[in-house]
Amino acid sequence: MNNTTTQQWWKETFVYQIYPRSFKDSNHDGIGDLKGITQSLDYLKKLGVEVIWLSPIFKSPNDDNGYDISDYQEIMDEFGTMADFDEMLAEMKKREIKLILDLVVNHSSDEHHWFQEAKKSKDNPYRDYYIWREGKDGQAPNNWVSMFGGSAWEYNPATEDYYLHLFTCKQPDLNWQNPALRKEIYQMMRFWLDKGVDGFRMDVIPFISKQEGLPDIQYTGQLLFDIVNQYANGPQVHEFLQEMHREVLAAYEVMSVGEGIGVYAKDAYEYVGEDRKELNLIYYFDHMFLDRDAKTDKPISLELPRLKQVIRDWDEALKGKGWNTFYLNNHDQPRSVSRFGEDTQYRYASATMLATLLFTLKATPFMYQGEELGMTNTTFTDIEDLNDVWMRNLWAKWQQEGKNNPKDFLAFANITSRDHARTPFQWDDSPQAGFTDSEKPWLLVNTNYPKINAQEAQADKNSIWHYYQKIISLRKGNHTLIYGDYTDLDPQHPQVFVYVRETKEEKITVILNFSPQEVIYELPAQITHLGEIFISNYPDSQGEAAHTVLKPYEAKVYCAAQS
Ligand code: GLC
Ligand code: CA
Repeated sequence: MNNTTTQQWWKETFVYQIYPRSFKDSNHDGIGDLKGITQSLDYLKKLGVEVIWLSPIFKSPNDDNGYDISDYQEIMDEFGTMADFDEMLAEMKKREIKLILDLVVNHSSDEHHWFQEAKKSKDNPYRDYYIWREGKDGQAPNNWVSMFGGSAWEYNPATEDYYLHLFTCKQPDLNWQNPALRKEIYQMMRFWLDKGVDGFRMDVIPFISKQEGLPDIQYTGQLLFDIVNQYANGPQVHEFLQEMHREVLAAYEVMSVGEGIGVYAKDAYEYVGEDRKELNLIYYFDHMFLDRDAKTDKPISLELPRLKQVIRDWDEALKGKGWNTFYLNNHDQPRSVSRFGEDTQYRYASATMLATLLFTLKATPFMYQGEELGMTNTTFTDIEDLNDVWMRNLWAKWQQEGKNNPKDFLAFANITSRDHARTPFQWDDSPQAGFTDSEKPWLLVNTNYPKINAQEAQADKNSIWHYYQKIISLRKGNHTLIYGDYTDLDPQHPQVFVYVRETKEEKITVILNFSPQEVIYELPAQITHLGEIFISNYPDSQGEAAHTVLKPYEAKVYCAAQS
């Protein structure tokens, strides 16, 4: 079957993710909110944004910043009211901006009324909304661990047994085997779709079906992979997603995108094959694991050929069958310019080189707030300044293991913490970067805001912001960049990434220097004619040449008619 040529709006656009807590505060409490987003829509429109994904905005005690929902049909107190939501949605529609909500249904909050009921007694009608097991010799039912550390089981005194939580103990896992629960979720999805939202990003969706009998994990020493591989892709996940499609999604022209934790290229087709009727898109983690040692979790440097391999594998897996996504940043990852680029001397060059990659692959690009400014990682100097529940639990674990040196922990956090992505959006050079007029933003503002901010970036014609605006507009409506075939021309080169995107009529060649060094690069023999410069990140990029000198982090894109 060859149907990737089906044209869909969600293939032709890109997604801009907002982490509402950190975007814009409208009422002086130091926490971003819905009104703040509404006030910022013109800024986003100017950049070229057509689709916004909002991290969760629903009622939540915020153990995991909204990824623990206590009422799926109410707005989080700090973020505003349902009237604010309706106004925001109406203002988006006015500007032809689509809205994707975060669907967090692997687990709820323990403060959700379902769980409040379920934990009361074994015969409570909501008991089967969650996953309960008897302990083993006074211990947890099996050796599963939470993604955020510690056992994945919590004892409940009233029923004298344990409930499962793959994340914190305030995030009990929902029991998808219960049809009544599934019905409630579908109902809730329809509530939002009927309001006019354009789809869902589905949180840890590969985890919703658990392995039969909940067998112990066989630890091999690669902790994260051991856990994730046990929890992802359970036996009924596709049955559930097909049912969700039938019951809900099929009736709407919307976008569904799964967070593909534990999903590898070999599994991709089953989730997003166009004839499978499950999800439209899924985003993978393979490239996020390339700069971490799987055994020690220590940061290691990225080997470019491994990144190319990931991209080739996914392209291959879905060619003619489904559609890919690509991202370098989101609310769970450190900032891409600090991680894959260089955030001091070559901040402009490396951020724009990464933008070029993001917007020229055969995949729907997902970008994250502040990426267009080249926002960088911050430097945490006090563990108390970290908010991320994963980091806080990890520090507790280090201390239990006798690793008590805060300096060592901060060194690790300053590379890996999710908080890097969550520092407030840098609007201008006024106090707190214009994010809030409270003196206390919920998370510290990065001190580089006087230099790196949206006002400055928009005023400077040669900024990262303007490069994003340009490449966004170049991709829009460009058939070759959207639908053209992808071929990696030099899989093994350690510094240079070269690929073509082509249709019968046109060929676009992308040349990226992934290194801070100048590289003298012999063009692969397949390239006989580069054509015109389409976009580049140095002002004096040269035209055709058999070999080319690439400046640090240089990106050059050429376009030629097919001969
Ligand atoms: C996803 C979210 C992350 C959250 C976790 C639990 O990975 O992106 O932020 O902590 O799921 O919901
Ligand atoms: Ca606020």
